[in-house]
Amino acid sequence: MANRRLAPASEQPQDFAFTPENAEWAKHQIAKYPEGRQASAVIPLLWKAQEQHGGWLPQKAIEAVAAELGMPKIRVLEVATFYTMFALEPVGRFWIQLCGTVPCDSCGARELKGMLEKRLGPPGHVSADGNFSWLEVECLGACCNAPMVQINQDYYEDLTPESLSQLMDDLAAGRPVKVGSQTGRTSSEPQGGATTLTDETLFDGSRVGAWRKRFEQAKEAEAADAPKGDAPKGDAPKAPVAKTGEAESATQQAATAPRPAKPDAGRPVERKASDAPAQRAADGEEPVKPEDRADAAERGQSIAKHGSARPGDADALDSPAKRIAEGEPAAGEEGRQELPGRDIPPPPPEASGASEAVEEKLASDDEKK
Ligand code: FES
Repeated sequence: MANRRLAPASEQPQDFAFTPENAEWAKHQIAKYPEGRQASAVIPLLWKAQEQHGGWLPQKAIEAVAAELGMPKIRVLEVATFYTMFALEPVGRFWIQLCGTVPCDSCGARELKGMLEKRLGPPGHVSADGNFSWLEVECLGACCNAPMVQINQDYYEDLTPESLSQLMDDLAAGRPVKVGSQTGRTSSEPQGGATTLTDETLFDGSRVGAWRKRFEQAKEAEAADAPKGDAPKGDAPKAPVAKTGEAESATQQAATAPRPAKPDAGRPVERKASDAPAQRAADGEEPVKPEDRADAAERGQSIAKHGSARPGDADALDSPAKRIAEGEPAAGEEGRQELPGRDIPPPPPEASGASEAVEEKLASDDEKK
């Protein structure tokens, strides 16, 4: 993890000021933002100050940016210490930022780190020749090509300790180096080259629009077969519109044969009740199948005899069939009343004492009259 402290006082310059050219550039950056939002330019200004000061940010530069933007110094210091793109201590001519986050770590960043420690010493120190310093940072966004480092403003990817060491030798010697993947892959495509979307016709236009070409060919063929006797004189004969071609067929199908909805697409599905008694009656069959009838009869006999139809059926403890089999009345359940026949009038309700008193009173009143 990066050490985000300011450099010791012995390393700090006495003052800092933008060069006239950079001051002009800073004004242009600040003018991009609306009045009262000048603080939004803090990162570009810090970046320019770091660039002007040899690749690292002294305290005086942080204070100068704060004054330029009218911000409290602590607010600008917060930004400078948060982002590892700002070096707070002197750096070498080539500042190596090694990504140590999980994808790079899984792909060999620890080996790179070991090599850097061995060659340059601990992070945050400039090498004796002034060429290199290094720092471990968080993900730099090139995970597909892990492990990787950023050196000054360029990315170097797909590294091994050997290739990084060779890269450092070349940089120190001023030899040209290759930016990006060090194994030769293009951008972030798979190792060994692309494995998908490799068909050239996807990109040369020969696949898109091929259907249109077929229609044109069909029209030309039909025009060639058409009788030429009635063609008007003067103008070249126009090709007749295809009447039975692929395009017309497709248009007609779209209009007359809409694709059926999926079974469960938004409306209830009506399915035929294939084995219901009502369906069988409607089809002219016996509503109850003979085998079902035989099964019901067997079930009734079994209940009458054993109180249970089959293994697993609940015992019919007090069924009419069982009672009949045992010589009892079918509706002989204790406390249960037999229903009277439909042709027998119901008995009158029992007279209460109150109604008798009322009747006696009425009779007495009639006698007095
Ligand atoms: S994890 Fe290393 S670049 Fe993302």
